Amino acid sequence: MNRLTEFMLPPARSTMAGETDALFHFINVTSIILLTGITIAIIYFSWKYRRRSDDDVTPVITHNSKLEITWSVIPLILVMIVFGWGFTGYMNLTTAPDDAYEIRVVGKSWLWEFHYDNGAVSINELNAPVNRPVKLVMNSDDVIHSFFIPDFRIKRDVLPNRYTSVWFEATEIGESIIFCTEYCGTQHSNMDATVNILTQEEFDTWLEEGDSIDEDMPPAERGEALVTRNGCTACHSADGTSGVGPSFEGLWMSDRTMQDGEVITADENYIRESILEPNEKITEGYDPVMPSYQGVISDRQIDDIIEYIKSLE
Ligand code: CUA
Repeated sequence: MNRLTEFMLPPARSTMAGETDALFHFINVTSIILLTGITIAIIYFSWKYRRRSDDDVTPVITHNSKLEITWSVIPLILVMIVFGWGFTGYMNLTTAPDDAYEIRVVGKSWLWEFHYDNGAVSINELNAPVNRPVKLVMNSDDVIHSFFIPDFRIKRDVLPNRYTSVWFEATEIGESIIFCTEYCGTQHSNMDATVNILTQEEFDTWLEEGDSIDEDMPPAERGEALVTRNGCTACHSADGTSGVGPSFEGLWMSDRTMQDGEVITADENYIRESILEPNEKITEGYDPVMPSYQGVISDRQIDDIIEYIKSLE
């Protein structure tokens, strides 16, 4: 079974994975056995009852109770097993243990935001302790997204105006991928993130210190690190190519024509507003799709990002 899992499925790194995989293999193996049996029967019967001569007439058979009951009851039992098994798994996934550590997840077009109990925030990187149940309470800022960690075998839709939740207990230290599995717009395929499983100690240290962007770096370099960490690069290039949003190159102090025809110079205030209230002013030719970074990026960090954009003149 383990070798079958290795062959067909991503690594199993949560307490949930064993049961999910067992059900998956059960459905798969049962289907293969049935498919093989039915195919062999079809081939055998078409050979056995082939037409041999012109006066070869098949007798009229109205029904056969024994056979009919057999082919109704066996599938019924199989389907009920799959239902019971699947429903138990679904309920387990939905009901987190009472002592679970809670993390808030916000899906936005097109990034994942993680809020921790001490106020720490991380973007596109979920940090969590190993061997401890972690409950994710999730909602969306805009459209429907879906949160999926294949290695943990957990997946749940993330909706606007409603909370959904899912939980996991990671069994291994290391990184796994998080996908968005609900089509949510042009950058849906880039809406991935990393889950980083740490020891409890490492996790506590990370919570205390947050992401260590080196304080000794020049502001423009810190800005660049922030832009990468906050997922800005998914839509904004640094080399002049136009993405979902305008490029950062040549942005600084340039004249921007807005959708309403107003011309604005891209100065500090414009950049600040674009980060905190991105849909206030929209550059001509672009859509109002950027999520707000209010409460996520601090004033200090905005300064650094401005310095970075300046450096791309
Ligand atoms: Cu979010 Cu697809």
